[in-house]
Amino acid sequence: MLTLPNAAPGVWLHVDGAYGLPAAGAPTSRHLFAGLDRADSISIDAHKWMFVPKACSAVLVKNPASLAAAFSHNEAYIPHDFGDVNAVDATIEYSRPLRALKLWLAFKVHGAEAIRTALERNLAQAQLLYSLASEAPDFEVLVHRPQLSTVPLRHIPSRLVNASPEDLSNHNAALQQAVITDGRVYISPAQIDGDTWLRPCFTNFRTTTADVIITFDTIREISEKLSRA
Ligand SMILES: Cc1ncc(COP(=O)(O)O)c(C=O)c1O
Repeated sequence: MLTLPNAAPGVWLHVDGAYGLPAAGAPTSRHLFAGLDRADSISIDAHKWMFVPKACSAVLVKNPASLAAAFSHNEAYIPHDFGDVNAVDATIEYSRPLRALKLWLAFKVHGAEAIRTALERNLAQAQLLYSLASEAPDFEVLVHRPQLSTVPLRHIPSRLVNASPEDLSNHNAALQQAVITDGRVYISPAQIDGDTWLRPCFTNFRTTTADVIITFDTIREISEKLSRA
């Protein structure tokens, strides 16, 4: 649940939804974003979880007039007679490429429903990986299920069952690198309370259930191989 403070007058409330905000449009995770309408502005990176290539970021502002108040300039060389919206009055970056085109095209070609369905698939894939890892004695997961599509986990090979936190962190840091070198799946690391974890995150519309299982099996296989080396 998103808990937004009651903003005092004059306080600008911005929600940085770079990665997670698309899930506000997915039926099973929509409730997590209750209160979003109280934000003055929200930002979203469509290249993170709206399936378009880098870079495509958007800022949605409740009151567009505030953009003009912050950015507008009225130089004589810039035409202001083509309607209300002029990029120079709404952004710090005037001469810029049409980065939004790919997102607009994705909506036109595939439609919002296809995008929502792909988000739901990623959400379900995260739940599946969490279930696989939480039921396996050689994996460690966080106590709460993933809310979105990120699933922090660690692998504990048999040789490291009684290892120190430091050794376990070192192993999982090496494992993260080895998984990338192996190339079957790509996983980023995460630091949680000073420990190194793996941070699988599902943001691709092509990812399948089989890929989730391959991810799980690959982590275990490479971890055991590393620990024997
Ligand atoms: C929550 C959040 N905010 C901001 C950023 C930075 O986004 P960008 O690289 O598009 O500037 C990220 C990227 O990882 C993010 O996850």
